[in-house]
Amino acid sequence: MAENPERGAGVTIGVVKESAPGETRVGLVPDSVAHLVGKGLTVVVESNAGMGSSIADDEYRDKGATIVGSAADVHAAADVLVRVQAPSPERGELGDIRPGQVMVSYLAPLVSHDLNRQLAASGVTAMAVDAVPRITRAQSMDALSAMSTIAGYKAVLLAADHLPKFFPLLMTAAGTIRPARVLVLGAGVAGLQAIATARRLGAVVDAYDTRPVVKEQVESLGANFVVIDTGSSDTETKGGYAREATPEELRRQQEGLNDFIAKADVVVTTALVPGRPAPKLIPAEAVERMRHGSVIVDLAAETGGNCELTQPGEIANHNGITIIGLLNLPATLPVHASQMYAKVITNFLDLLVKDGRIDLNFADEIISSMCITHNGEIVQAQTRSMMGLDAASAPTVVEEPAEEIVEEVAEVIVADADIEEVVDEIVEVAEDSHPAVVDDEETTSNG
Ligand code: NAI
Repeated sequence: MAENPERGAGVTIGVVKESAPGETRVGLVPDSVAHLVGKGLTVVVESNAGMGSSIADDEYRDKGATIVGSAADVHAAADVLVRVQAPSPERGELGDIRPGQVMVSYLAPLVSHDLNRQLAASGVTAMAVDAVPRITRAQSMDALSAMSTIAGYKAVLLAADHLPKFFPLLMTAAGTIRPARVLVLGAGVAGLQAIATARRLGAVVDAYDTRPVVKEQVESLGANFVVIDTGSSDTETKGGYAREATPEELRRQQEGLNDFIAKADVVVTTALVPGRPAPKLIPAEAVERMRHGSVIVDLAAETGGNCELTQPGEIANHNGITIIGLLNLPATLPVHASQMYAKVITNFLDLLVKDGRIDLNFADEIISSMCITHNGEIVQAQTRSMMGLDAASAPTVVEEPAEEIVEEVAEVIVADADIEEVVDEIVEVAEDSHPAVVDDEETTSNG
């Protein structure tokens, strides 16, 4: 792929102009182009791709990118396509994809089953930025966290703008103003940023999450952590996400939260469970107990909302309560959203492109977790399971090259012998009897 004579040697990264309505972000910014070009990569950018983020074509050009006229030109030139929003087959964004081309994008693979099938059929190696594993090494490649930071911040600004009150405590000659009370539901990345922003504006903040592990983080930001006994303690998955609450747990949560919701001037909700509809934490009755003029900002609107009355994409009013269900808040802060997105993508490209070629190393947990389709197949284990497919054709993840594993064993069993000779012999035998055993250079896929 990287050596295709028609496109020249080396790896070419392509950036298209996002076509989704309201999308202002762009996959790479000029600084990331400079970084990639500095590493010997070629970068092609569709003309006006940066316009929504206030980046002119010349700024890309100055950093070494080639500007091309259309998405089709980008698709034709690129080995790796960088996108923000998932490609839209309806808008023809998969039409000219070449088998073997790599695409890095938001894909929502756990719920976008049709798209997964179409990506597989196109032959693209699709890497979902929203499937990055929650491990320390992947933190700098975590687009979800970067965008959640923006959403949490913007949610509080929207709330402050719609609230007919001040946020801070004010002591003035015209009297004392009591600070606003803010309740944050879900204290992950977005929730913690919402807490920090509301605190900076001077509000008194309560926060709740099913994962008790966040209590300390909430308190360190100067907020009060709401404790509700739901009768269970195993609320977190191995991957660091919340597991879906049972109906009984949800009932207890709603009951425990009711008084806090009624007292709040602002409720910011961020509770999400990957691949599942957002948990309903605010039933209509709870909204009806809130004071006139209060505001709910529902950051879970995209997956149905945490509030029963949220209308995704809308600002609704229910008996004087403003319920904000706007989508894609990061796109409302495009300069920094694109800068942060481009940074995490560039960090990922540093992992993906090694020594001037694409290194699809499925032994790397980051690559294997993010790779949704490869060689015409849906390969990611969690996605396959959500789609009811058997796990059999997921790529084999080989933790260590065969030689290394054998070497370790050999060292133990033949302490003083010539290790290299023993290793070679064992590897030969292993390869004869197990064709799937890989060498140092490649991993294997049975998919
Ligand atoms: P998220 O966006 O999936 O969920 C938001 C929050 O909603 C989570 O804190 C979750 O516990 C909470 N939630 C789910 N169901 C709930 C319910 N019924 N009631 C109340 N709250 C509920 O999660 P996010 O923010 O993307 O990350 C979650 C955690 O993952 C972070 O706090 C962090 O500990 C960890 N993380 C680790 C990273 C790494 O190590 N690379 C990167 C990013 C996050």
